Amino acid sequence: METFKDKVAFITGGASGAGFGQAQVFGQAGCRIVIADIRQDALDEALAKLRAEGIESHAIRLDISDRQAYAAAADEVESVFGGPPQLLFNTAGVNSFGPLEKATYEDFDWIFGVNLHGVVNGIQTFLPRMIDSGRDGHIVTTASMAGFEGSPTAAIYSATKAAVINLMESYALTLPKYGIGVSVLCPASIRSNIADAQQTRPAHLAANSGFRSDEAFIELQRRLYSGGMDPVVLAGHVKQAVENEELYILPFPETKDGVRAHFDTILDAFADPDSDREGAEQRARAFAAYRAEAARTAAAAG
Ligand code: NAI
Repeated sequence: METFKDKVAFITGGASGAGFGQAQVFGQAGCRIVIADIRQDALDEALAKLRAEGIESHAIRLDISDRQAYAAAADEVESVFGGPPQLLFNTAGVNSFGPLEKATYEDFDWIFGVNLHGVVNGIQTFLPRMIDSGRDGHIVTTASMAGFEGSPTAAIYSATKAAVINLMESYALTLPKYGIGVSVLCPASIRSNIADAQQTRPAHLAANSGFRSDEAFIELQRRLYSGGMDPVVLAGHVKQAVENEELYILPFPETKDGVRAHFDTILDAFADPDSDREGAEQRARAFAAYRAEAARTAAAAG
């Protein structure tokens, strides 16, 4: 994407942390900004700051796990700005930590509901409208370095982020033909309010949790995230990736060796190629025939 001037950018989690940084950076670059967030007080504060910076902006209270509310938010964007966004930032996310074997269904439902289904809802809501508009666009989803590897205490969070990375890789294979770029942001640590994510947990999913939410643990997390990357600096990496149409946004080089070690472990686990060369060649021929036939039938179906 070459210019951001007057483009509408819809940013979930836009009232805080990474999302607010994106609102500032893309707003300064000329975008008209919509911040969507579950917390009205945070939205009011963020909107006032954006407008004080001279950024044309609008705020919508939205729980991204609510599909009906998401459709209403999309209608609101169209009535305020005259069309769907060209930039969609799926940035809102929550975390919660504790031993995986103590996790409850409510822990799974909350974290999957926001971090994975919230992303799905955003894309399902806006993508058809973006395609119909015929304009160029870009979708950026915030995953996490946690999505590259399992974790004993952030397991549900990691699973959602792994799913999101994989999903965006698939969209990157399918959306460029519509002029829509795709990026996935994988941060390691952001100076944000995510330590207090529990405050956004809906009451019906808060009653029963196997994870830690005591004040001492939350305070420990606040200290951790206070040393994270400035959200404006992080959003600068995102802007560069959107300009250059890059899929992976990996602004934390200090995590690279760990990722390499993890993927090396996976690569080392492969069976010896000499163990079944003939079978492998047969399977490769079957896959090639399948792909050719699938491409022929897809072309015939239009
Ligand atoms: P943050 O807590 O400062 O911002 C997240 C925002 O999302 C908050 O304003 C919150 O109200 C909103 N939100 C929560 N649930 C929502 C829902 N159901 N509907 C709409 N809005 C909702 O946290 P941060 O760190 O800026 O998080 C942004 C993204 O970055 C998340 O996806 C997170 O998983 C990811 N991330 C954060 C890292 C960190 O170190 N803070 C590291 C890696 C990834």
